[in-house]
Amino acid sequence: MPDLSANLAGIKSPNPFWLASAPPANSGYQVMKAFDQGWGGAVWKTLGVPVVNVSSRYGGVHYRDSRLIGFNNIELITDRPLKDNLREIEEVKKHFPDHAVIASLMVETKEQWIQIVKDVQNAGSDGIELNFGCPHGMCERGMGSAVGQEPTVLKTIVGWVMEAATIPVIVKLSPNISHIEEPAMAAQEGGGNAVSLINTIQSIVGVDLDSLAPYPIVDGRGTNGGYCGPAVKPIALNMVKNLGLLKGFNLPISGIGGIENWRDAVEHILLGATNVQVCTAVMHYGFGIIREMLPGLESYMTEKGFNTIDEMVGKALPNVGTWETLNLKYDVKAKINEEKCIGCQICYTACEDGAHQAIGLPENGDNRVPYIIEDNCVGCNLCSLVCPVEDCITMERKDDGSETVTWEERTANNDIPTTFNDERAGGIHHWVPEPAAALKK
Ligand SMILES: Cc1cc2nc3c(=O)[nH]c(=O)nc-3n(C[C@H](O)[C@H](O)[C@H](O)COP(=O)(O)O)c2cc1C
Repeated sequence: MPDLSANLAGIKSPNPFWLASAPPANSGYQVMKAFDQGWGGAVWKTLGVPVVNVSSRYGGVHYRDSRLIGFNNIELITDRPLKDNLREIEEVKKHFPDHAVIASLMVETKEQWIQIVKDVQNAGSDGIELNFGCPHGMCERGMGSAVGQEPTVLKTIVGWVMEAATIPVIVKLSPNISHIEEPAMAAQEGGGNAVSLINTIQSIVGVDLDSLAPYPIVDGRGTNGGYCGPAVKPIALNMVKNLGLLKGFNLPISGIGGIENWRDAVEHILLGATNVQVCTAVMHYGFGIIREMLPGLESYMTEKGFNTIDEMVGKALPNVGTWETLNLKYDVKAKINEEKCIGCQICYTACEDGAHQAIGLPENGDNRVPYIIEDNCVGCNLCSLVCPVEDCITMERKDDGSETVTWEERTANNDIPTTFNDERAGGIHHWVPEPAAALKK
């Protein structure tokens, strides 16, 4: 049986699944209910000077009017008194000493930071998470993502916290930034023990066409909110990967963003996360989703021969590189399974108008099954992505695997120029930009 227990910078939990700091972790009642059902840890809804929240607070993006794929909120940090939260943290720890309870914090001045760190430590928290990510409401007051976007400020505040901290400190990063590497490095330099990412992405999910106000509407007005849920998983995975590959960055990562099931969690872990946090999926489906996540993770680990979570961390990273490291000789082409095809011809339309005119229609109108024009097919995948029937269009390898050439190798052999002259961007630029070059110096 694989061991599901997790250890993030010394914070131990029976499994890697934590509730993210958000409404599901707003009270002792909820956190204990979640632990009862199997969750390994919880990051408490951010504590600070209690705020006044608005009604309404949430907006959503639905896939074909049914499934919620993107979620937007304009909620601030906790609106409950600090003393109530501290008392409940203490109570939870008494009942669940082996589960991880992490206090998420956001205040303004050095004195406030030091005081609240001491308060949550006295209440028995196992760790602290610094909310430098909230991109609405709090950032206008100089907190949340306003800190996450300024590595120097972030480093200073982490330093204040470390002066008082006796338990591990996780720095929660904002995705509302071009180079996640910069605040992550600042968190490390400030003395933080781990990072978590992502917090929500600044967004407007829609505009009401009658009242002309953006959602969610508060008495005829709206504001930008924070976007999360399944739609943000690709952005989160990319940022986790960036930190997983960042040279000189040694802090463990807590992966957050779009996790709904064990597969999503494993993806975060394979790209470098030591554990994961979940918010929107719990708000949507409830704490019970853990009952599918735990056995799913366990069977995957058994099948792949992973004995511990740590053995899985970052295992996909060796297969991730820049575009320049991809094999230019690898060649796939689409194949349509005539038995499975339902004749909707959406693949034809997509390829004809949106790609490479590599799908043809039979002349006999009774036969609606399209065919592939191999000479035109570049193996882009578009037809298989739009096809509504599972495994009806597959991509088949055509090269024999004997030749491998990457752009990197061609550059090294002087086959192609390494720079291009883009007048609009003001002169010569390298084809291969150096991400976060300043950090490597
Ligand atoms: C309604 C709502 C409230 C949230 N409140 C907080 C918060 O107080 N502190 C915090 O660090 N993150 C907060 N978040 C962000 C989540 O913790 C998480 O980082 C984000 O939702 C991405 O995860 P998900 O895709 O699983 O939802 C909130 C998210 C939502 C939807």
